[in-house]
Amino acid sequence: MRVVLVGAGGFGRRWLTAIAASDEVELAGVADLNEDAARAVAGGLPVGTDAVELARRTGAEAVINVTVPAAHHPVTTAALFAGLPVLGEKPLAESVSRALSLAAAAELTGQLFMVSQSRRRNPQLARLRAMADGLGRIGAVTTTFARSEHFGGFRDVMAQPLLVDMAIHPFDAARYLLRSEPVSVYCQSWNPAWSWFAGDANAIAVFEMDNGARYVYHGTWCSPGATTSWNGEWRVSGEHGTALWDGDNEPAGGDAPAGPELGDVEASLHAFAEALRTGVPPSGEVHENLMSLAMVEAAVLSADAGTPIRLDEVFERAHAQALAEETRADVRAQLASWTTDRLSRTS
Ligand SMILES: NC(=O)c1ccc[n+]([C@@H]2O[C@H](COP(=O)([O-])OP(=O)(O)OC[C@H]3O[C@@H](n4cnc5c(N)ncnc54)[C@H](O)[C@@H]3O)[C@@H](O)[C@H]2O)c1
Repeated sequence: MRVVLVGAGGFGRRWLTAIAASDEVELAGVADLNEDAARAVAGGLPVGTDAVELARRTGAEAVINVTVPAAHHPVTTAALFAGLPVLGEKPLAESVSRALSLAAAAELTGQLFMVSQSRRRNPQLARLRAMADGLGRIGAVTTTFARSEHFGGFRDVMAQPLLVDMAIHPFDAARYLLRSEPVSVYCQSWNPAWSWFAGDANAIAVFEMDNGARYVYHGTWCSPGATTSWNGEWRVSGEHGTALWDGDNEPAGGDAPAGPELGDVEASLHAFAEALRTGVPPSGEVHENLMSLAMVEAAVLSADAGTPIRLDEVFERAHAQALAEETRADVRAQLASWTTDRLSRTS
């Protein structure tokens, strides 16, 4: 399958490595608003500023969208309506309302839109999940994420650099691990006195899951000393035992079957190609991924309000906003056809 990569920035280069290593996917060209940036990584292949135009010119059959979050909605909408399936980077969109618009666009066009939530595809996480399956009922899953990162750039000035830019990975992984969806969240975020971030570098969130378990996340960007893995440190506390994962090495606490060994981005690319071949919806299909973004938005709303927030409430608000701001009549009609019941069953 020939693909156009759009977004030739830092992570676009990571995707080019995965495409080069794949025997299922071939690069047809690279698009970026900055055509020089595209040319610099395209290795002599065609380049352009518009992914759809470039796909038409090169005969590409799919688009891989690694643009900045604000561009995910316009770039993916244009590709889907041009008849091209899309594999997009996380987050699905800038907000749950824009994400609902993309889900409606995927329904209308019948094209696959998959979000590469790549940390979910870590083989050690797959083995932790297999262990968790053997622990009986689960009481709680906790993640501690503690780093001391000086990024410079946009993260330093965001209102919620931890919750919005990073926490989506463990939130999504918790859904995968527990095979369960969140019902509500109570979150506090704050900025420690010594923080070098303008926004809140620390957060604690408690999610009630629909299987009765609690998922507890404690994260910080400003914790010098004894830092954790980028995946965080995990504890799964169950009826028949406990499983532990330090985020970097094999999890401890039981016999886990060997899992897939592809790199995480490579595994996403393979899942996308396989889904297009078989027609079976992959993990990360737009509807399935909505809840991970909604967990982030719910946590931010809870931190702002100082009260617990139900996930249903997040979807209802986002749906109203999506109807109000949608500019395409066909997408608005599709959004309007959804029932409230449907909104709470996104996966
Ligand atoms: N899964 C992960 O672990 C992981 C890690 C890093 C980044 N990401 C995600 O990857 C995406 C890109 O991040 P990055 O660090 O590469 O950003 P970046 O800013 O380095 O690159 C983004 C590129 O997109 C281009 N662009 C912006 N709008 C465009 C448009 N409308 N059309 C075409 N090109 C456009 C920009 O010119 C830029 O070259 C983000 O969504 C980010 O969250 C994921």
